[in-house]
Amino acid sequence: MKKIIVAIDGFSSCGKSTMAKDLARYAGYVYVDTGAMYRAVALLAIENGWLTEDYIDEENLQKNISQIKIFFKNNAAGVQETYLNGRNVEREIRTLKVANGASRISALGFVRHQMVSQQQLMGAEKGIVMDGRDIGTVVFPQAELKIFVTARAEVRAMRRMKELQQKGQKPVFEQVFANIKERDLRDTTRTESPLKQADDAILIDNSDITRAEQQKILEKLFKERTELDIQ
Ligand code: DC
Repeated sequence: MKKIIVAIDGFSSCGKSTMAKDLARYAGYVYVDTGAMYRAVALLAIENGWLTEDYIDEENLQKNISQIKIFFKNNAAGVQETYLNGRNVEREIRTLKVANGASRISALGFVRHQMVSQQQLMGAEKGIVMDGRDIGTVVFPQAELKIFVTARAEVRAMRRMKELQQKGQKPVFEQVFANIKERDLRDTTRTESPLKQADDAILIDNSDITRAEQQKILEKLFKERTELDIQ
């Protein structure tokens, strides 16, 4: 069976990573969470004082960006975790503060350039499911299967609430909702690779469908692309 690249793009908190992980498991493919990569850069920038509430020290961030190495490794339970320069940062990158920081630093051209190069290397052998904002438009415009996923903002805020609660945090709905709207606006209006549906991407709104229904749709699309498209 032909190996392909699956690109999954879409808004924050619409279940892209759940969808991507489910499909990667089904296909026996590698899964890459590119949002985690931008979060890891944001975490490093916060820790070094290059990213504060109202300021980004672009000079220092740019000086150090090529030294930042991000990789993923499964833990003992088989759950994929993010490593930043060899350190496990999976828990730290999942806070609202880091999410916001990631949204801000991901608007910088030199940050995107560095991340995109690393992502293209990760997908060089194909057999990969990658999720993010610009995978089907910039990272892999040649991807054989492109999905653009969305859901209503309220539905996404509720999902994010649950996720944060499961991580032991105590989120406030209004704050989570405002954070999602703010990130939607920033992600879609930035000059560098704004979030947008690729012309050849398939749109899935998962507000009112179950995870199992969504998985069925994806499996069908995946089979069509790998079985019909024989080289
Ligand atoms: O998917 P996420 O919420 O973990 O992503 C965190 C931030 O990173 C989000 O605000 C947008 C940005 N991002 C991006 O600009 N490009 C990507 N390919 C992935 C994420």
